[in-house]
Amino acid sequence: MSDDSVVPVLIVGAGPAGLVVALTLRKNGIPVRIIEKTPRVQVGQRGAGIMPRSQEVFNLLGVLDDIHAKAMPIVPMRMYKSPEGIEPLLTFQLDPAVAPTPSRPYNNTSMLGQNHTEEILRTHLERHGCHVELGTTLYSFQPTDDHVLAHVLREKGDGETVETIKCRWLIGTDGARGVVRKQLGLAFDGETLKATHHLVIGDVQIKGLDKKHWHYWGDMSTILVMLRPTEDDDIYFLSVGGHVDHAKIVAERAGLERVLKVGTGRMDIVLGKIRYVTEYRPHVRMAETFRKGRVFVAGDAAHIHSPFGGQGLNSSVQDAVNLGWKLSLVEKGVAAPSLLDSYSEERIPVITEMLKKSTELFDNAMQAKSDGTNSEKAWYRGGELHMFGVNCRWSSIVVDERTPKEKTPVDPYGVESCSYTNAVRAGDRAPDAPGLVVLDSAEDTGMPQGTTSTSLFNIFGPSYHTALIFSDGTDSDKAKQIVSQLRAYPPELVRKVLVYHDPDGTPPVVTLGGADMSVVDRYGHAHGSYQVRWNEFVAIVVRPDGGIGGIIRSTEGLKRYFDGIFSAT
Ligand SMILES: Cc1cc2nc3c(=O)[nH]c(=O)nc-3n(C[C@H](O)[C@H](O)[C@H](O)COP(=O)(O)OP(=O)(O)OC[C@H]3O[C@@H](n4cnc5c(N)ncnc54)[C@H](O)[C@@H]3O)c2cc1C
Ligand SMILES: *[C@@H]1O[C@H](CO)[C@@H](O)[C@H](O)[C@H]1NC(C)=O
Ligand SMILES: *[C@@H]1O[C@H](CO)[C@@H](O)[C@H](O)[C@H]1NC(C)=O
Ligand SMILES: *[C@@H]1O[C@H](CO)[C@@H](O)[C@H](O)[C@H]1NC(C)=O
Ligand SMILES: *[C@@H]1O[C@H](CO)[C@@H](O)[C@H](O)[C@H]1NC(C)=O
Repeated sequence: MSDDSVVPVLIVGAGPAGLVVALTLRKNGIPVRIIEKTPRVQVGQRGAGIMPRSQEVFNLLGVLDDIHAKAMPIVPMRMYKSPEGIEPLLTFQLDPAVAPTPSRPYNNTSMLGQNHTEEILRTHLERHGCHVELGTTLYSFQPTDDHVLAHVLREKGDGETVETIKCRWLIGTDGARGVVRKQLGLAFDGETLKATHHLVIGDVQIKGLDKKHWHYWGDMSTILVMLRPTEDDDIYFLSVGGHVDHAKIVAERAGLERVLKVGTGRMDIVLGKIRYVTEYRPHVRMAETFRKGRVFVAGDAAHIHSPFGGQGLNSSVQDAVNLGWKLSLVEKGVAAPSLLDSYSEERIPVITEMLKKSTELFDNAMQAKSDGTNSEKAWYRGGELHMFGVNCRWSSIVVDERTPKEKTPVDPYGVESCSYTNAVRAGDRAPDAPGLVVLDSAEDTGMPQGTTSTSLFNIFGPSYHTALIFSDGTDSDKAKQIVSQLRAYPPELVRKVLVYHDPDGTPPVVTLGGADMSVVDRYGHAHGSYQVRWNEFVAIVVRPDGGIGGIIRSTEGLKRYFDGIFSAT
């Protein structure tokens, strides 16, 4: 087992997907190496919008505060009348205002340049003793039954050195053009959109515009120009589309200056420094599977889609945590490698649906006219796009003893289930609940009992399952059986939390009785979020990726769930 020359996991590509999977594995104590072909970290906005569901993952990984400290909220979009381009025609929110709720504390899409997000992730990774190896390119690999040999080229001074890395698992987060998917020979079916659908994007310095709006002129049947303010002073994220000469705009400053003048009609907008501009060719493609033996693909390496859907980084982050916790359990020796098949099984239906949605959004963007027709519809980014409804109810590893399980994916994006009225089921996102008074905790909180208040999102973590045992203390026999069954599993891998209700304000007299923590659901948010009635016994098993793995009523159900996870013999 402990062959020092073998790296448990080699991650190829340090974009958002690679960094998130690396951090998830490190938080589980798994040694990883992460290589990145570019010699310097990349600059620029690229995918900047961080959806609420991605924020939840960042919270789970402990990086959200740093992200929020730098991010800005999404600003309203302002369209201007053509051809003068000065008078506002329409101003609207992309993301309609919704108040935070106890079960969904993050209500806004945060905007932060991808390079900032990546820097924050790298800093956290470094705290776990893992440094991105820059200037290191994977060029080929050979999988065998018990390991993978990865051949990499490392830039060193003026020359290059060759290294062969022996790893047990290899994860290709090497982007759309990555070598990992190609060398695995995975089909990557779909389409590349035609040139009239290409965009020029970039980070440019602009003078003469306010930073309170995302400025927008024209349409795709003529020339479309969009300028979104960023967290960096007078830097705007530029998108240009429609009938333009993409190559010329990228190649010559004069080309960009001209398209800005013609596209906006404005003479007072001054182009300053150009940080970078590049042509963006939208594709809609997905790999046939995300795993082949000891090799995986995640993020853009596994699926790409039009930028108008803007679900890129968001989906990559979800892939990464889904894979990260499963691989950790396999490396810890408690789960069988077959658990890893559930990664493709759970993500492919979601991604299939996401590609449809992105294409729909792209088509809507094509329909938006410069006179304002269809514009709000085209740029609407609320509702299911927040990904609260994304689920894996059909997954072979989830167990639901409350609602019959889906045999095949019915609504992977949860268009229906993202409404509050729908049943919470195994495979759904695990909601938050604040206002939990800590009665008793195996960890010393440093506060007198009954005075600290916490939330479920503070209790969940990426290196263990959390079992929430709803019990009012009267029907405690079942709860006791469940706790005793849970004690059969490694304590560091399953956190046991008793959730009591508090009908008359007097906390029940309880002892931990083998649980790690007892809380009183003072305001009923936990019962509400998980649709548990007072006096009802239910155990909810929350996975390390913040999804509900099990809704359990019996010890048999509990055993069935954990037999599926801790499947190593
Ligand atoms: C130029 C550009 C503009 C974009 N603009 C937008 C946008 O406006 N809106 C939007 O929503 N999304 C945009 N995206 C998409 C968004 O950036 C991606 O969805 C997101 O980055 C996906 O993350 P990832 O980690 O899967 O891939 P990436 O971020 O692409 O990361 C892959 C990494 O792997 C590295 N790599 C590749 N091959 C190797 C190798 N052989 N060895 C070692 N390292 C390797 C690459 O250098 C790269 O750093 C853009 C992408 C690009 C490239
Ligand atoms: C991100 O890129 C921008 C250029 O677009 C640059 O100004 C900024 O310093 C970069 N920030 C980080 C943290 O890399
Ligand atoms: C994440 O989703 C939001 C909302 O759809 C979008 O605005 C943003 O661009 C997405 N981010 C990425 C990087 O795709
Ligand atoms: C999020 O909630 C805060 C506080 O209620 C509110 O000020 C803000 O406008 C909301 N944002 C969105 C996008 O709904
Ligand atoms: C909205 O987003 C900003 C930054 O993106 C963040 O600082 C703020 O806390 C968010 N508001 C809420 C209510 O979540």
